[in-house]
Amino acid sequence: MDSKIISKAKPLKGEITVAADKSISHRAVIFSALARGESVIRNLLEAEDIQSTCRCMKNLGVDIQERNSTLLIKGRGLQGLKEPDRILDCGNSGTTIRLLTGVLSAQPFFSVLAGDHSLNQRPMRRVIEPLQLMGAELQGRQGGNYPPLAIRGRKLKGISYLSPVASAQVKTAILLAGLNAEGITAIMEPEKSRDHSENMLAAMGASIQVDGLGIQLQPGQELSALEFLVPGDISAAAFFLVAATIVPGSELKICDIGVNPTRTGIIEVLQQMGANIKLENQRTIGGEMMADIIVTASELKGVKIEGEIIPRLIDELPILAVAMAVAEEESEVREAGELRIKETDRIAAICNELGKMGVAITELEDGFRIKGKQQSPQGVKVDSHGDHRIAMSLAVAGLIAEGETTIGNAGAVNISFPSFWDTLENISR
Ligand code: S3P
Repeated sequence: MDSKIISKAKPLKGEITVAADKSISHRAVIFSALARGESVIRNLLEAEDIQSTCRCMKNLGVDIQERNSTLLIKGRGLQGLKEPDRILDCGNSGTTIRLLTGVLSAQPFFSVLAGDHSLNQRPMRRVIEPLQLMGAELQGRQGGNYPPLAIRGRKLKGISYLSPVASAQVKTAILLAGLNAEGITAIMEPEKSRDHSENMLAAMGASIQVDGLGIQLQPGQELSALEFLVPGDISAAAFFLVAATIVPGSELKICDIGVNPTRTGIIEVLQQMGANIKLENQRTIGGEMMADIIVTASELKGVKIEGEIIPRLIDELPILAVAMAVAEEESEVREAGELRIKETDRIAAICNELGKMGVAITELEDGFRIKGKQQSPQGVKVDSHGDHRIAMSLAVAGLIAEGETTIGNAGAVNISFPSFWDTLENISR
């Protein structure tokens, strides 16, 4: 699909589910492959990024079968992966390449990881450096910072690492290497990033302790196979939370969404802006909190965000920019420089594209400033830059724009939410 046309929407009504959680899906596949016994994963995300992880794991000798939309994964144990006979293609997925770098650094064989054009431009030093401190033998382009990455796996030793970035990918890569290392691995984050790895490892019997921003992992414990139910992705729900808030007269129920507190920054900020969002039917499944979310349209006011909340809504900042564009008063996002090294430079991409629609948005080095409700956005031609979250954010902006919005490279949504367009159509009728 090349481009998609969005027109001004009528009130959005109904009850929906969204794509399954991408972060939890990657982890469920990788951790199950390292466990003893057969894991059963229900509601695994069916999207290109997870296909990348499954393809890599199959090339590492893992038996993955699908039966009635349930995935069965035969674990090979912590040391049981096989040397791949080809380059492991991680596609567009940063989580796949960074997590697998941690796994493969400690497996006794040679492997090479690479991705698509976007992934091969994304920095890997953040995982390479701590893994090298553990004794890993890793090579990459440009002094080891960019894929393709070549790994000569070997026995590693545990480290005590003070991470300079709040990154769940970095934290998880170190933990995965630490599972096979000699001695304790300790990690301290500057701010709390998503903690799905810690939850899942604990549920699988790993000897892991979390104390605030610190984590300690004692190796030597095999992981036991588990039954997982993957919740809906709050990062996918976010597009509909904002859509139903800003399209007048809307009322939407979004069911079975993961509401782990390390992911709910978007709900907190939207509520602070005046959004009408309520959580119902809260429950905990497999160590992860889930809820149904009710959202009704409301007026928004401006907000300034920075600091500890940023890692808890990092992927939601492009869609939050759309909410900020219709708020009364000015809004500002700071300390979000991480956005520049995602699937695309998301600060530049959202500023350029919303700017084309007439939104008064100013690009800052580490974020953006938005004047707020100056005028309605104008329907024009915009582009996703091949980035799934930019495509979906622009679609939501199109729902309130005057005239038609044409989104180029709209097929990018297949990375995380292939049914996005159908879901949007169903509630816009
Ligand atoms: C992810 C962590 C985040 C997030 C990404 C998925 C994960 O990246 O932006 O979409 O699954 O661990 P960082 O860990 O680099 O912040």
